[in-house]
Amino acid sequence: MKADVLLGLQWGDEGKGKVVDVLTSNYDVIARFQGGPNAGHSLEFNNIKHVLHTIPSGVFHKGTINIIGNGVVIDPIIFAEEIDALSKMGVDLLSTLKISKKAHLILPSHRELDAASEAAKGKSKIGSTLKGIGPTYMDKTGRNGLRVGDIIRADFKECYNTLKNKHKDILRQYNYNSNIEQHEEAWFKGIEAMKKFELIDSEVTINQLLDKKKRLLAEGAQGSMLDIDFGSYPFVTSSTTVCAGACIGLGIAPNRIGEVFGIFKAYCTRVGAGPFPTEQENSTGEAMRKIGFEFGATTGRPRRCGWLDLVALKYAIMLNGVTSLIMMKADVLDTFDTIKVAIAYKINGKT
Ligand code: IMP
Repeated sequence: MKADVLLGLQWGDEGKGKVVDVLTSNYDVIARFQGGPNAGHSLEFNNIKHVLHTIPSGVFHKGTINIIGNGVVIDPIIFAEEIDALSKMGVDLLSTLKISKKAHLILPSHRELDAASEAAKGKSKIGSTLKGIGPTYMDKTGRNGLRVGDIIRADFKECYNTLKNKHKDILRQYNYNSNIEQHEEAWFKGIEAMKKFELIDSEVTINQLLDKKKRLLAEGAQGSMLDIDFGSYPFVTSSTTVCAGACIGLGIAPNRIGEVFGIFKAYCTRVGAGPFPTEQENSTGEAMRKIGFEFGATTGRPRRCGWLDLVALKYAIMLNGVTSLIMMKADVLDTFDTIKVAIAYKINGKT
């Protein structure tokens, strides 16, 4: 069996969570492959709006297996809050949620490093969600990170302190007023909460499930234009958000990828800084924001709004090998007399 992939083709917030929720009944397994709590996948369950940050969007369907893959970065505090909120709604994940031992942990000090780095950038800041995503992936590639599998080590606390102290040195260079210890109790409680779940070698589990003809949907976070390589660098997130990220973040071979569902909105939005050629900083953009309720699911920030950018969309379709396109929120434009789309860019007079 091949794994299908669902991902965003713009700057995130395309409505991926809702589509996953609709498609989940066709799948046995939903797996997250990159990003972390910078994501905010909004779903409605029993008429209550729910925002998932780390946990795959298949949780509201009984019997679906949910996997947090090796490519994801996890903040134990946010993870425990999510689990708590879901269990209060009667969603018991203990038997259905599995976590890769190779997924990396976001420490309280990673969040501080994120804040310190953004503050130091001044006007050229990225507009990060400040969830510690960038510093955690830096520690992963720098081979300093702590992984989920480490939490059962007898010397885990020591490993934690070593990394924390390394971070403290860097924070001192930033002259950052550090407050790490205040979050440690909740962080270690989160670690205990994680220990209750099945910690797996998700690449093995996933390939075995595919061998058994189980249907798997890999759920992307953010969007292709925020990809670390192909997005509008440096105004990007720190993971591979394009389809190839599903191979890396779950351990699926490229020839095992089946359908690629590409989600886009009938207009564009972007949170944070960076190029946005079709942005409407005027009443048109304001109308899109108001009608489309374009405010960040994670940070509540107003999203920048503009017309659909077909140049960027075609680029994203190329990068991902999209087999099915899904357009969201066309109804937001119902009351607009004119609907525009970008078909080309003009740079220095050249199209
Ligand atoms: P970070 O990944 O939190 O460091 O943020 C880097 C950039 O990606 C910022 O511009 C964020 O606003 C943006 N970003 C990160 N996650 C999301 C998301 O889930 N939706 C939309 N934008 C996001």
